[in-house]
Amino acid sequence: MSIVSSVNHILPIAASMEPPRLQGAAISGLGFYVPDRILTNSELAERVDTSDEWIQSRTGIRERHIAAPHEATSDLALIAAHRALKNAGVDAADLDLILCATSTGDYVWPATACIIQDKLGAKHAAAFDLSAACSGFCYGLATAAGFIQTGAMKKILVIGADALSKHLNWDDRSTCILFGDGAGAAVLTPCSAGCGILSSTLGSDGSGLESVWLAAGGTRTPITTEVLDKKLNCLAMRGKEVYRFALEMVPAAIYEALKRVCRSPEDISLLVLHQANSRIIEAVSERLGMNPDRVFMNLDRYGNTSAASIPIALTEADEQGRMKKDDIIVTVGFGAGLTWAVNVIRWN
Ligand code: ACO
Repeated sequence: MSIVSSVNHILPIAASMEPPRLQGAAISGLGFYVPDRILTNSELAERVDTSDEWIQSRTGIRERHIAAPHEATSDLALIAAHRALKNAGVDAADLDLILCATSTGDYVWPATACIIQDKLGAKHAAAFDLSAACSGFCYGLATAAGFIQTGAMKKILVIGADALSKHLNWDDRSTCILFGDGAGAAVLTPCSAGCGILSSTLGSDGSGLESVWLAAGGTRTPITTEVLDKKLNCLAMRGKEVYRFALEMVPAAIYEALKRVCRSPEDISLLVLHQANSRIIEAVSERLGMNPDRVFMNLDRYGNTSAASIPIALTEADEQGRMKKDDIIVTVGFGAGLTWAVNVIRWN
């Protein structure tokens, strides 16, 4: 049974009250970072029974970046954060909030966002992590937009960062070929109403818990030697289930988010889908009737970087001049939980 909750960033207006003066929330800076080490398909084929041809034809991935043993998620996130702040011309000391979407925090607790807050010197910022797996950055954009649109905050850093390589079973060919490490960040600031993040549709279906998950290390299944022997401390996935879920939920969620702002797929200038599998991206685009030139893809070079995939893609799209003022940009995350999230953005 799926539960879809939609968030339209417009507050209810009581008839007797003066309408609240809502402002928009815009992405005013972007940045990303991936570790130096590149792991190619051919290298993977030396370790597990796979081939460059299989991986490319089933996923579209050619290579991915892998964090060094000493590199934790906050290290990747910090560099992405510095780059986004510089791009936005915002001083870390002026941030009101740092929100880090991650499934691979440095520690079980406290939040990785707090580590980033300290290292950035963001003395006036609140900080928390958001756990929505590959949908995390899009959930984060919706959350941050709410704070800005109601006037509660002015400058928010939203980060998507993951180092899933640290939680992979490198002997499992069905998962170890898919993921890469990285971080991306966006600075959100106020803008005029009708610009920036126009609407978000968020959803979850917890009955799909075991479709893609990391079973051990929490309070349900603490780490024991038996757990380690069974590799329950590593990501496990039923790929076909996730694939079917994505094709069922994602197009519907995009239509829903567009409908809320009276738009349709023809209005989309650039569709930035979670970079999990080129076949998923192509099938979703087809269902929306969108040509590949309006659909962003860079997973050939990064693989699935989980919460980082959308901000990395947005940064590259921006650098390539593919997002112009007033363009309608749609970002879509989907993944473990199961979760999904769509943001409709009028670029400014
Ligand atoms: N190399 C060679 N053969 C392989 C590999 C590999 N790396 N992996 C699996 N195979 C084999 C299987 O064993 C199977 O063999 P069999 O027919 O002899 O049993 C065959 O290839 C087909 O396997 P399938 O799993 O059916 O392959 P499929 O076409 O479904 O592709 C894939 C698998 C790429 C994982 C696909 O299902 C997929 O992309 N799913 C979605 C994953 C996703 O989007 N995850 C995002 C969420 S992640 C998150 O939230 C953290």
